[in-house]
Amino acid sequence: MSWQDDIEKIKEEFARASKKGPDGFSKQEIESLRVSFLGKKGKLRALYSIMGRLSVEEKKQLGKELNALKSGVESFISQALSRASSKTGLKFDPTLPSDVLSGRRHILSRVQDRIVSIFESMGFALFYGPEIEREYNNFTGLNIDISHPSRDAFDTFYIDMDSPDDGLGKYLLRSHTSPMQVRIMKEFSPPLAAIVPGRVYRPDAVDASHSFMFHQIEGFYVDKKARFGQLKGVLLEFARRFFEKDVAIRFRPHYFPFTEPSSEVDISCLLCGGKGCSACKQSGWIEVLGCGMIHPNVFKPLGEAYEGVRGFAFGMGVERLCMLKYGIPDIRLFYNNEIGFLNQF
Ligand code: DAH
Repeated sequence: MSWQDDIEKIKEEFARASKKGPDGFSKQEIESLRVSFLGKKGKLRALYSIMGRLSVEEKKQLGKELNALKSGVESFISQALSRASSKTGLKFDPTLPSDVLSGRRHILSRVQDRIVSIFESMGFALFYGPEIEREYNNFTGLNIDISHPSRDAFDTFYIDMDSPDDGLGKYLLRSHTSPMQVRIMKEFSPPLAAIVPGRVYRPDAVDASHSFMFHQIEGFYVDKKARFGQLKGVLLEFARRFFEKDVAIRFRPHYFPFTEPSSEVDISCLLCGGKGCSACKQSGWIEVLGCGMIHPNVFKPLGEAYEGVRGFAFGMGVERLCMLKYGIPDIRLFYNNEIGFLNQF
């Protein structure tokens, strides 16, 4: 029998052995198929051993035939193996990396980006600051006297860690984003306009409207010519673009240590348009943020560049704005990671 006949015979044998197709094999059957054709004592190996007796021309031919046959058998085996493992249980492995991007960004991230981009379009520059702050930046530098009762309103998580003796006081988790006013003004000279989103922490009991961690956005503008009218214009423009409605805004006198005068800002109720309903407790207005003209005591330690300047500042809660815009009743929904809630946005 010539080697050509042998090749034909092996081809036929393989065709018969693989007749069930790659779907029809258990792992064990695949292994015995592999041993009988590709193993050390397998059918193909026997043919390799006659190579030495052939002419150069025939060697080439046999080599070609054998390689083609071998790769045919190998590819059948690997197909059969992958079908067999998918039959054994794990069809879908969610831990495998994917090259298809699935899921979406969290609603809070998207609302935060939206707010930031509205202010960026008005010329405010984006900054981020540290969540671990120093007492000076969180309080003293903002004209908050930490022995004053008003400090209760800014209840804070202190960090039990030695701090350097540099006059900046203890380490703490920032209770608002306002300390970035102090940091940015220390580093840059006016005129400047900045917007700072970020996490803040307060030791509040968690309920439908409180969380020990939430997100704020701080904005401020410092210039010789800054005035309250500009603040009003900036916030009206922001409110109309953010809520995508022709809302009215109203400035209510308030107290913040770092601004004078200070205001809370209300928007006309999104549900009743100002007529009065249960959402706005019949008042027609809903509080959205705090603001004011930066207190001269905030500028005082900053030196010459800040002499004679004026500024306005505002701070808002991202969760609160998001809840108002989308009618979300409970702040805890943002953090529970319930897919049914998140998928709505
Ligand atoms: N930091 C204030 C808070 O957490 C919010 C705030 C109010 C920021 C008025 C400001 C401002 O910049 O002018 O309650």
